[in-house]
Amino acid sequence: MKSLHDCLPLLFVVVFSLSWVNASANSNDYFLDCLSSYHPDEFTSFSKVIYTETNSSYSAVLESSIRNPRFSTPNIPKPLVIITPSNISHVQATIHCSKKHGLQIRTRSGGHDFEGLSYVSQVPFVVIDLVHFRSIDVDVKKEEAWIQSGAITGEVYYRINEKTTNLTFPGALCHTVGIGGFISGGGYGFLFRKYGLAADNVIDAQFVGANGRVLDRRLMGEDLFWAIRGGGGGSFGIVLSWKVKLVHVPSTVTVFSVGRTLEQNATQLLHRWQYVAPNLPNDVYSVVSISSMNSTENGERTVLATFTSVFQGVADELIPLMQERFPELGLLREDYIEMTWIESILFWNQLSNETSEILLDRSNRNSLVPLSYKSKSDYVRKPMPEIALQGLWSRLLKVNETSTAIVNIISYGGKMDEIPETETPFPHRKGTLYKINYNIVWQEEENSNPQRYISWMRTLYSYMGPFVSKSPRAAYVNYRDLDIGRNNDDGKTSYKQASVWGRKYFKNNFDRLVYVKTKIDPENFFKHEQSIPPRFH
Ligand SMILES: Cc1cc2nc3c(=O)[nH]c(=O)nc-3n(C[C@H](O)[C@H](O)[C@H](O)COP(=O)(O)OP(=O)(O)OC[C@H]3O[C@@H](n4cnc5c(N)ncnc54)[C@H](O)[C@@H]3O)c2cc1C
Ligand SMILES: *[C@@H]1O[C@H](CO)[C@@H](O)[C@H](O)[C@H]1NC(C)=O
Ligand SMILES: *[C@@H]1O[C@H](CO)[C@@H](O)[C@H](O)[C@H]1NC(C)=O
Ligand SMILES: *[C@@H]1O[C@H](CO)[C@@H](O)[C@H](O)[C@H]1NC(C)=O
Ligand SMILES: *[C@@H]1O[C@H](CO)[C@@H](O)[C@H](O)[C@H]1NC(C)=O
Ligand SMILES: *[C@@H]1O[C@H](CO)[C@@H](O)[C@H](O)[C@H]1NC(C)=O
Ligand SMILES: *[C@@H]1O[C@H](CO)[C@@H](O)[C@H](O)[C@H]1NC(C)=O
Ligand SMILES: *[C@@H]1O[C@H](CO)[C@@H](O)[C@H](O)[C@H]1NC(C)=O
Repeated sequence: MKSLHDCLPLLFVVVFSLSWVNASANSNDYFLDCLSSYHPDEFTSFSKVIYTETNSSYSAVLESSIRNPRFSTPNIPKPLVIITPSNISHVQATIHCSKKHGLQIRTRSGGHDFEGLSYVSQVPFVVIDLVHFRSIDVDVKKEEAWIQSGAITGEVYYRINEKTTNLTFPGALCHTVGIGGFISGGGYGFLFRKYGLAADNVIDAQFVGANGRVLDRRLMGEDLFWAIRGGGGGSFGIVLSWKVKLVHVPSTVTVFSVGRTLEQNATQLLHRWQYVAPNLPNDVYSVVSISSMNSTENGERTVLATFTSVFQGVADELIPLMQERFPELGLLREDYIEMTWIESILFWNQLSNETSEILLDRSNRNSLVPLSYKSKSDYVRKPMPEIALQGLWSRLLKVNETSTAIVNIISYGGKMDEIPETETPFPHRKGTLYKINYNIVWQEEENSNPQRYISWMRTLYSYMGPFVSKSPRAAYVNYRDLDIGRNNDDGKTSYKQASVWGRKYFKNNFDRLVYVKTKIDPENFFKHEQSIPPRFH
């Protein structure tokens, strides 16, 4: 684990020692010339979506969807140009000219990447921000929709709900998550135990690769269509739009969310939950969120475990179910709240006092989001003993008042157990009891010293090792974590080097991802710190 502690200072050294800003002033001009000559007669409209660093809107456009302020400080490298395409030809021109002038492209949909990979690179780069690619066409009769990548989850929920309250998309919990990155990495939410991941519900896509051709499912072939549904964003090209199956939701869903402290048997309850939750019916989404807090009784630090469920059905069905399966939790009749599907999304996002229009708002009001964070993930296939939880508590209790640590434990099972591991690149299927999502969150200030929070997270991760999945220690690609391995900046990353992090995210599906990458982008044009490498490198 020592190397983990060493690699962050190293990263900062790299950042400061780069002098590419001057060196690339020329390539920047050539790049802009190239854009203007791509379709000269259409450049007037194209020029309206090109932001260079001297443009007064540049910073606002760049900041618009940065969700982790850790990656917007002055020492973080910035794109030479930001393009917010409004036409596919703008995307094609940007690919053509970036290739020609040796610039990297980072594609951004919702900007939620945990490591900022959609808007930060260590080499000269441009950002394609898909904010204008966000139309949503819902076909209620066919129960399908075409969704452009730049749409956020909340927009999708709202647009479907506007037409019918019976249907929805199995999207994310947080309404600001971008569709592009979300589906690219699999994508789970309240409905994944019933209908699988977002990626499991994709039936077609519109894609542009390094050669600039626009491909649909038929043209791209089943290998590439497989790879883009969970193989992680930014490796193969740019997905502009996804055709998805819509799924059914009942007119009433039921939610409960109850907190239990250590004094209220949180340890025994969580221990028991591991046996109960993965076996609940597919209609139940179940999560336990854990953090430390001052006890309201004696003012001393304690651990609070909040048990939350969202059930696709009425309270009269959920009450006897919980009474039978998990009586220890001691739920009361008044803990069960009935609401509509769309209200359950508002509830989760702490927007219950708002109308559903708030879901269209791309800015983040959730107090957790404007803060900096470091996150990691684990998968668990064997219940943890209580002693493991005790050690987790002692670490949570050491978190200082300047930061908050939140550990979410999300039950798997249901439909996730039925989908074969090779169906999509996302491999965490049968036998997975739950996923753990660790977060430490702090206010980014000049003297906030993020290193100590990041170190705390790495120590916790190391502590958890014996209790979670092994060989590989699995992780969720949409919870991007560069600690588990990274490619070289020069793009010369060996298959062996990449398979360290690759197998954690994709298990043996990594091999097929490398095969697809080698076929579709052998020059490794689309790349980042954890992109799938082609086999020759
Ligand atoms: C507050 C918050 C809540 C979250 N909630 C959930 C949740 O409920 N369920 C869940 O599964 N995950 C969740 N996540 C994780 C989320 O799914 C990933 O961060 C996802 O990658 C975000 O997609 P994005 O478009 O917003 O991110 P971006 O940062 O825009 O993109 C993420 C990655 O995908 C690439 N990419 C983006 N768009 C495209 C495209 N069109 N084509 C190809 N590559 C592209 C980017 O280059 C980058 O590598 C959450 C994250 C945050 C910060
Ligand atoms: C900034 O760029 C936008 C988009 O290209 C353009 O409309 C605007 O006029 C530019 N503003 C300045 C001050 O250059
Ligand atoms: C997009 O570009 C194409 C060709 O490059 C052009 O024919 C078309 O009119 C453009 N569409 C819009 C909406 O601007
Ligand atoms: C949708 O829901 C409404 C009201 O709940 C119901 O009347 C209608 O039959 C449902 N439609 C379908 C296709 O299920
Ligand atoms: C905690 O568990 C013990 C033994 O299982 C039980 O006696 C006690 O009532 C529980 N406490 C609470 C607050 O539920
Ligand atoms: C928790 O307790 C500590 C020490 O008693 C105090 O400084 C802090 O303000 C309290 N925090 C909250 C959120 O009440
Ligand atoms: C809902 O509550 C938030 C936070 O308390 C507040 O800022 C917002 O104005 C409220 N919205 C409405 C519609 O009352
Ligand atoms: C908490 O504060 C102590 C003493 O200032 C420090 O050593 C430790 O690193 C801090 N821990 C975290 C997680 O911030």
